[in-house]
Amino acid sequence: MIKLAPSILAADFNILGEQIKILEESGVQYLHVDVMDGNFVPNISFGPPLISSIRKNSKLVFDVHLMVEEPIRLLNSFKESGADIITVHPEACSDLIKTINTIKEMGLKAAVSLNPETDLNKLDQVLKDLDMVLIMSVNPGFGGQKFMPESLQKIRDLKEKISKAGLAIDIEVDGGINHDNVMDVIRAGANVIVSGTTVFYGDIKTNVNKFEEIFNRF
Ligand code: DX5
Ligand code: ZN
Repeated sequence: MIKLAPSILAADFNILGEQIKILEESGVQYLHVDVMDGNFVPNISFGPPLISSIRKNSKLVFDVHLMVEEPIRLLNSFKESGADIITVHPEACSDLIKTINTIKEMGLKAAVSLNPETDLNKLDQVLKDLDMVLIMSVNPGFGGQKFMPESLQKIRDLKEKISKAGLAIDIEVDGGINHDNVMDVIRAGANVIVSGTTVFYGDIKTNVNKFEEIFNRF
């Protein structure tokens, strides 16, 4: 089943709670939470206090994408705030294996995210322990960027790598996904679709429904 993971980076923070409520009413299951430290990426977003605050009123699966240096320092704090899935970038981890193991030992789902220029072989040492791989289809740091079409081949290659290894791992894709290109992303092998701008710009319910209609056609 294909899942939509709306990225709250594109939400109106003035009415964030109301917008999350609309997502829940629209049948969304995942919430993509982009955490940026101004160091691993050149932008700052939000952290555990905001996540704890929205956790109180939401049952969605919190898919927390950590674009921060040495996320291992902060894992406990993100678990406490209510993360369900934690995604880290290999370039940000001095010990990726230990970071993934720590996430798993906490009872959370673990994912690794690959930047557009990062090779799939970065996954080799941890693939069997992952619940999900996140393919970035833009350079991380900002919402509203243009989808990089070369990421489609990477998704296909990843899908093949996962099935050759006999594993069942979700493939999430993040950056520049809209109603026009999402079918290509799904056909390439993705089953978790992150979308910020396309979900939050205009009427949220209509935008979510339009994604769901496309997913149903697959
Ligand atoms: C980029 C973030 C994305 C981004 C997606 O660094 O990881 O999750 O918010 O937003 P859109 O859909 O606007 O590209
Ligand atoms: Zn993200």
